[in-house]
Amino acid sequence: MERFVFFGGKGGVGKTTVSCAYAHRCADAGIRTLVVSTDPAHSVSDVFDQRFGDDPEPVDGIEGLDAMEIDPEDEMQRHLQEIRESLSEQVSAAMVSEINRQLEMSHGTPGAYEAALFDAFVGVMREESDPYDRVVFDTAPTGSTLRLLGLPEFLGDWIDRLLYKRKQSIDLFEKAAIGDMEPRRLMEGDPVLERLQRRKEFFEFAGDTMRNDAAFYLVLNPDQLSVNETGRAIEGFTERDLRVRGLVANKLTPSPDDDEEGRGATYLRNRVATERERLDQVREEFEPPLVAEIESRTREVRGDVLAEVAAALDIETDVDDDGDGSHVDDPVRADR
Ligand SMILES: Nc1ncnc2c1ncn2[C@@H]1O[C@H](COP(=O)(O)OP(=O)(O)OP(=O)(O)O)[C@@H](O)[C@H]1O
Ligand SMILES: [Mg+2]
Repeated sequence: MERFVFFGGKGGVGKTTVSCAYAHRCADAGIRTLVVSTDPAHSVSDVFDQRFGDDPEPVDGIEGLDAMEIDPEDEMQRHLQEIRESLSEQVSAAMVSEINRQLEMSHGTPGAYEAALFDAFVGVMREESDPYDRVVFDTAPTGSTLRLLGLPEFLGDWIDRLLYKRKQSIDLFEKAAIGDMEPRRLMEGDPVLERLQRRKEFFEFAGDTMRNDAAFYLVLNPDQLSVNETGRAIEGFTERDLRVRGLVANKLTPSPDDDEEGRGATYLRNRVATERERLDQVREEFEPPLVAEIESRTREVRGDVLAEVAAALDIETDVDDDGDGSHVDDPVRADR
């Protein structure tokens, strides 16, 4: 299994729950694991009944598991501040206030939140993942995540063009330098070029990692809306040359015992029958296999129930070791 594992799906289907359960299972298998939530509702904190912030911290009572929660809204603010600071060194004071106005406006545009979210999780893959053999993400709902996965190529091309223009303009500027006056702008150390270049590398890293070192699972509930959405999501991944590894069906209605009667039992039986049809549809129509069927519990999934859910996941935990055949189960690597 790849180092980075993502659980996508519609809002509320159980992404955070399943991510935490899977991370728990990886940690139990002796794999140094980090679970990352990008959910502003702090639901990882709820699952483990412990507050987490934007630095990884050990989860109490689960050996080998760390957790962190990034708030995309905070990331967005940090991002804006960074842009402001770096621009104020590069443009005139008069332009700074106009740029500020534009930045404030761009903050509110659709997509800004998703872009911040994307930056946040790519940032984690790049900067926080070193001490871990597995990093599990409870991603944002399907649609926006998918759009973000398209960004690397799109922005890569765009940045290439910007780089080309900037180089041209610098060349012209140098040619225009008169006599022994030094040209003010040089390619070497040009702050705008450097920034663009860094951005491009960031997106290239994201694209490469998503393609080569990440596995995607989709969580669904056994109802028509969720099944339809899952179908669209699978297509979206396929269009981007990413394969959905498996589907996790969550919140299945438990069957009553055969001798149970009455309105409640009848309701449950009918409900179970409907859900079976939906899951049959999932098995027939979709390529990725169903890797778990998790029943609805009477309470939110925490504590011991989390371990039960973890046990229901038929998702491997071991870590590929670049083809040399060894695994993290090796004591040497597990000790890292
Ligand atoms: N199998 C289950 N049985 C009972 N409750 C569940 C189950 N799975 C999830 N829940 C509960 O449903 C709620 C939503 O689950 P969760 O937070 O994991 O969904 P999510 O997909 O991450 O939601 P969001 O899209 O808002 O991030 C939580 O209160 C969780 O405890
Ligand atoms: Mg969530």
